[in-house]
Amino acid sequence: MDGVAGFPVFPPDFRFGVATAAYQVEGAVAAGGRGRSIWDTFAATPGRVHGGDTGEVACDHYHRYPEDIGLMRTLGVDAYRFSIAWPRIQPEGSGPGLAAGLDFYSRLVDELLAAGIEPFPTLYHWDLPQALEDRGGWRERDTAQRFADYAALVHRRLGDRVGHWTTLNEPYCTAFVGHAEGRHAPGTREGAGALRAAHHLLVAHGLAVTAMREQRHGDERFGITLNLNSVRPAGDDPADLAAARRQECLSNRVFTDPVLAGRHPEAEQETWGELTDFGFRRDGDLALASTPLDFLGVNNYFPEYVRAAPHEQPDPVRRDAADIGAAKVHPEWAGATTMGWPVEPAGLGRVLRWLRAEYPGLPPIHVTENGTSGFDEPDEAGRVADPHRIGYLDGHLRAVREAIADGVDVRGYFCWSLLDNFEWAHGYRQRFGLVHVDYADQRRTPKDSFDWYRRAIRTARG
Ligand code: NOJ
Repeated sequence: MDGVAGFPVFPPDFRFGVATAAYQVEGAVAAGGRGRSIWDTFAATPGRVHGGDTGEVACDHYHRYPEDIGLMRTLGVDAYRFSIAWPRIQPEGSGPGLAAGLDFYSRLVDELLAAGIEPFPTLYHWDLPQALEDRGGWRERDTAQRFADYAALVHRRLGDRVGHWTTLNEPYCTAFVGHAEGRHAPGTREGAGALRAAHHLLVAHGLAVTAMREQRHGDERFGITLNLNSVRPAGDDPADLAAARRQECLSNRVFTDPVLAGRHPEAEQETWGELTDFGFRRDGDLALASTPLDFLGVNNYFPEYVRAAPHEQPDPVRRDAADIGAAKVHPEWAGATTMGWPVEPAGLGRVLRWLRAEYPGLPPIHVTENGTSGFDEPDEAGRVADPHRIGYLDGHLRAVREAIADGVDVRGYFCWSLLDNFEWAHGYRQRFGLVHVDYADQRRTPKDSFDWYRRAIRTARG
C-alpha cells in the first residue's frame, strides 16, 4: 500500500498544506519596482546573518513558482501558505499598489487554484518596508494604519479568489526577537520599544481585519498566526513556577489574551516591572485586538521548560523586554534539532488543549507551521535521507490528531517548509524543507520526508 502503516485517519475536511514566506523564498528583490524591507537592510549589515547570506536570490520562487506548484501537486497538499511582500505592493509602505506586485500574487493565486490547491496568504511575514521603519516602524501607531490600508488594497485585488486571510505571522518575533533580543530585523535591544511594537501589531491586526471585512467579496475568513509554546516550570520550586508564569505571559498571553479574550495578561506587571509604562495604549485598542476571528493560526516547534534566573541586565530601566528573569532548561530526554530546539510532540498537543481550556469561544485552529531543520544534503546517488524530519512530523501530526479526538477544533496542518530557504539570521545553513534546494543552480530534490508526507496525507484521508 502506498501509505504510512499505522498513521491515523483525519476528519474528512482537514487540510494538509505546506508553508513558505516571501523574503525566505522569493528572491528577485528588485523585480517590478519592489522597495527595500527591513530584512534587506538587516541582511546587508555585516555580522547579522550567518555567512553574510541575504534573501536577494533565495529559492528564486518569484520566477520558479510554477515548478514549485508542480511539487505541491505531487505532494497532494490541499493548501499553500505563502506570504505577500508588503514592499512589492507599496515600496514605501503607503500609496497606490504597484501593478507588478499585485499581478505577481494574482498569477500565483490563479495557478494554485488551477492546480486544485487553496491559496492561504499571510499579509505580513516580517518584511516591513524600510521607509516605515525610518519613521519609527512598529513602535509608532501610524504603522498600524498603514498596514490596514495595505491589507485592504491586497484584499480588494485577491479577495474574490482567496478564502483564508492571515494578517500577521508571529507578532512575537517581530516585537521581541526584533526589538528586544535583536536577532531579527530591525535588530535592536530596547526596553519599552518591544512592548510598543507588540501593542501596535495587535492594533494593526484589528484594523486590517475590520477593513477587509467591510469590503468582503464572499465568505472570506480572517485570522492571525501566533507562535505559541507549551510553557512548564522545570521544577516545583515556587520561584520556578513564577518564572513559568512570566514566560507564559511573554511567549503566549501577551498576544492570546488581547486577541482571544479582549484583556491584557494578568501577569504583565510582574513580567515587565519597570517597563510597564503603557501610555501608548488607547481606549478601543483591546476591542480592535479582539475583533472576532474566523480562525486562529498556531505555529509551534518546541516546548519551553523554564526556571527562575537572575536578570541579565540588573538595571530595570535599561533591561530589554525579553529579559524577564527566566531561563530555558533543555530536558535531556528531548534531544535537539540542528537549531538546538528540544523536540516534544506532546507539547503541540498541550498548546492546543491549553487554548481550548483558557479561551471560551475559541475559533477553529489551523496549525500554520510545524517542522524541523537539518543539515540535509544529497548522498552520492542523489538521495536526501532525512529520517529526523519524518520522525518529527509523524510525532507532531499524531499529537494534532489526538487533540482533535479530545475535542479541539483543528482544521488544518501546514508543514514548514515546502523548500529549504533563507532561515533568517541562520541564513541558508539551516534547512527546513521537504525539498532540498541546491542554491548554486536552484535544483530542487525532494527529500525522503517529501515522499513520507505524500503517503501520510493519502493515509490520513482514509
Ligand atoms: C517561524 C517563522 O514563521 C518562519 O519564518 C521560520 O522559518 C520558522 N519559524 C523556522 O524557524
